[in-house]
Amino acid sequence: MRALQYTAYGDPEVLEWTEAADPHAGSGQIRIAVRAASVNPIDWKALTGMLSGGEPLAGIGYLGNDAAGVVDEVGDGVTGVAVGDEVFGRGRNTQAEYAVLDSWAAKPPSIDWAVAAAAGVAGETGERGLRLLDVNAGDTLFVDGGAGGVGAVTVQMALARGARVIASSSEANQDYLREIGATPVLYGQGVAARVRAAAGGPVDAVFDVAGKTPVEDLISLAPEPSQVLSVANFAAGQAGARVTGGGTDSHPMEALAQVAELLAHNKLVIKVQTFPFDRAAEAYRISQGGHVRGKLVLVP
Ligand SMILES: NC(=O)c1ccc[n+]([C@@H]2O[C@H](COP(=O)([O-])OP(=O)(O)OC[C@H]3O[C@@H](n4cnc5c(N)ncnc54)[C@H](OP(=O)(O)O)[C@@H]3O)[C@@H](O)[C@H]2O)c1
Repeated sequence: MRALQYTAYGDPEVLEWTEAADPHAGSGQIRIAVRAASVNPIDWKALTGMLSGGEPLAGIGYLGNDAAGVVDEVGDGVTGVAVGDEVFGRGRNTQAEYAVLDSWAAKPPSIDWAVAAAAGVAGETGERGLRLLDVNAGDTLFVDGGAGGVGAVTVQMALARGARVIASSSEANQDYLREIGATPVLYGQGVAARVRAAAGGPVDAVFDVAGKTPVEDLISLAPEPSQVLSVANFAAGQAGARVTGGGTDSHPMEALAQVAELLAHNKLVIKVQTFPFDRAAEAYRISQGGHVRGKLVLVP
C-alpha cells in the first residue's frame, strides 16, 4: 500500500506519499480501506518534531489519527462490525491506503466520506470536553477557538444538548460561527469582556480549544477555575483550570456513536476542504497556519 511518510523531522515539504508495509488489525481493532483521513494539528506537531523532546526521528514516521473507510479486517474479540461495513473513527497512521482503527462507529449512509473522516478526533474531543465540563441544557458555554476542527464540532454538539454557546474566532470566521449557531465574539485582547457582554454575565463553562488566551482571563469568566478546560494549553493546570489530552478521560466508542447520531440527523455539519494524498503538504501548511475553518481532509 501507499502511506504518507517522512524520514526526518521537517516542514510539510518532506512528506512523501509512497510504499509502506500493510498494517493489520490486532485484538480489539479493525482495518479499513481508507476513503478519507483528516489532518489534525497533532500531525504537523509530530512531523516537525515538536513532540520528539529533541530526539532525532528513529525509523520512518507515519501520520494521521482518524479516517473513514470500508472494513476489510476484523481483529480478535471485535463484535458488531463486519468486513464490508462503512465506518469512521480513530486510529494511528491513518493517512494511508489501509489503516487500523481502535475506535469507530458506523458511517451514516447520507454522510460524505470526507465529513465522516473529519469527525473522529474532533468529535471525540468535543464529547470529552462537554462531558468533563458537564455541559447540559440551559447552560452557557464559551468555546475559545470555535471555528476550527474541534471548536466547530464542539459548538454544534453543545447546541444539540440545549446549551447556549458563545464562541471566539477571527473577524473572517464570525459569520461562520453564526452559521453553526454560536454567538460570535472576536478573540484577542479584551475577549473576556466581550464574552461577558454577549452572555449577559459569567458563563457556566469555558472550553479552550486554541490555547492562546491567558488562562486567567478564561478563569475570570467561569464560576470556578475547574470549569475551564483546555486541550491546547497544558500550563493552564497551574492556574487551577483542567487540562485533558485524552487517555483515561476518553470514551471513544461512546463519543463516536454520539457523533454518528448527530451527523445522521444533520445536528452536526462539518465544513471540509479536501486534498488528494499526494498534495498533503498543502493541507499541512494550511493547518500549520492556525486559521482553519472546519476541517482539512486527505482523500485517495
Ligand atoms: N488534548 C487533546 O486531546 C486535543 C485533541 C484535539 C486537538 N487538540 C489541540 O487543540 C488545538 C485545536 O485543534 P483544532 O483541530 O481545532 O485546530 P484547527 O482546526 O487548526 O483550528 C484552530 C482554530 O484556532 C483559532 N484561533 C487562532 N488563534 C486564536 C486565538 N488567539 N484565540 C482563539 N482562537 C484562535 C482559529 O480561528 P481563526 O481561523 O478564526 O483564526 C482556528 O479556528 C490544537 O492545538 C490541537 O493540537 C488537543
